[in-house]
Amino acid sequence: MSNPIISRRGDSIQESPIRKLAPLAADAIKKGISIHHLNIGQPDIPTPVEFWDAVKSNISNVLAYGPSIGIPELREAICGYYSRSDISIEPDQVMITTGGSEAVIFSMMAVCDPGDEIICFEPFYTNYNGFATLADVKLVPITSRSENGFHLPPSEEITSRITEKTRAILICNPNNPTGTILTDAEISDLADIVTSNNIYLLADEVYRDFAFDGREHSSILEFPGIADRAVVMDSISKRFSSCGARLGNIITRNSSLMSVFVKFGQARLCPPTLSQYGAAAMYRSMTADYFSSVVSMYQNRRDILMHELHGQEGIFFLKPEGAFYATIRIPVENSDDFTAWMLTDFSIDGWTTMIAPAEGFYATPGMGLDEIRIAYVLNENRMRSALEILKSGLQEYRASR
Ligand SMILES: Cc1ncc(COP(=O)(O)O)c(C=O)c1O
Repeated sequence: MSNPIISRRGDSIQESPIRKLAPLAADAIKKGISIHHLNIGQPDIPTPVEFWDAVKSNISNVLAYGPSIGIPELREAICGYYSRSDISIEPDQVMITTGGSEAVIFSMMAVCDPGDEIICFEPFYTNYNGFATLADVKLVPITSRSENGFHLPPSEEITSRITEKTRAILICNPNNPTGTILTDAEISDLADIVTSNNIYLLADEVYRDFAFDGREHSSILEFPGIADRAVVMDSISKRFSSCGARLGNIITRNSSLMSVFVKFGQARLCPPTLSQYGAAAMYRSMTADYFSSVVSMYQNRRDILMHELHGQEGIFFLKPEGAFYATIRIPVENSDDFTAWMLTDFSIDGWTTMIAPAEGFYATPGMGLDEIRIAYVLNENRMRSALEILKSGLQEYRASR
């Protein structure tokens, strides 16, 4: 007998390009090779001790469910964090989610029916493809180009892609995988477009603290004319190096939309209870000093990346402005093949470097084949070694083709 049918959704969902090389990495490790991981946005920065202390002091006999919208302490602490950037939001405009991932999925599902469209700018965070498949939403990609630092194309190009099925424009700012930070003028243009077309602006701002060279990141929450159309999706994964806490949040001032999010939240009961106490403690206690030391650490790593790779033959990228990623054009025809080869065929003194091929960060077929994404999440010495190995690997790979 044949197997029962698997859904079209299940058949068509993409494998994450960040994780799909994992079996090759496991084989390399079995052969005794160590790996520098520049493929995944897993920071090496210690999770603040405030997190662990708060989790420990909230241990009780029963690990119980919490409120679907999230515990009040955390929602209040998030409002406090925003008030330090002069952004005023109320706790009932914040819902806690199971990671930023759930915040994006809920946002797509709250504003779209199956088959509806969301405009986004590629390259984009690759899991948007998977989230869109889960939500049965069509992502309509508009390509941003490395030549202008992956900033937005002209407004006419954006409006020309709006159809009667378009429900939202989705941005990731600062951007994963490019490190680009949108200017206020770009956000204002988007605000005008969503207003005149009566659609939403969904902003994934999980990297909002990481802006380099004295830049200021602007949240869409600061653009008052779009209060009812703005949805921010956020996370503590990167902000406090707490990826395993699985906590994020949604912010919207649109109370009807918030009540939909809360019903979605009720359907999955609640976000992780213990992590929320830890997150609330971090939001309350991590000051501007914490953020400026983390930002300067990432900025140094960005500078090492620039120093090691910029100007190398066939390599092209502009200086990333924030987050901790760069999308880099390299002189190969197929970066899937190259990144796999780095794991199967190349090492120096028992080490190799793992990077993510960029194709899965695009929705347009064939785009990104000559690009990789680097996450600069390792300390300075490891960054230097990892990039030396990458450069040598690239040379040998090209010579062998
Ligand atoms: C842009 C962006 N959005 C959302 C997420 C998901 O974050 P979380 O770990 O909170 O689910 C990530 C994770 O890498 C990300 O880079």
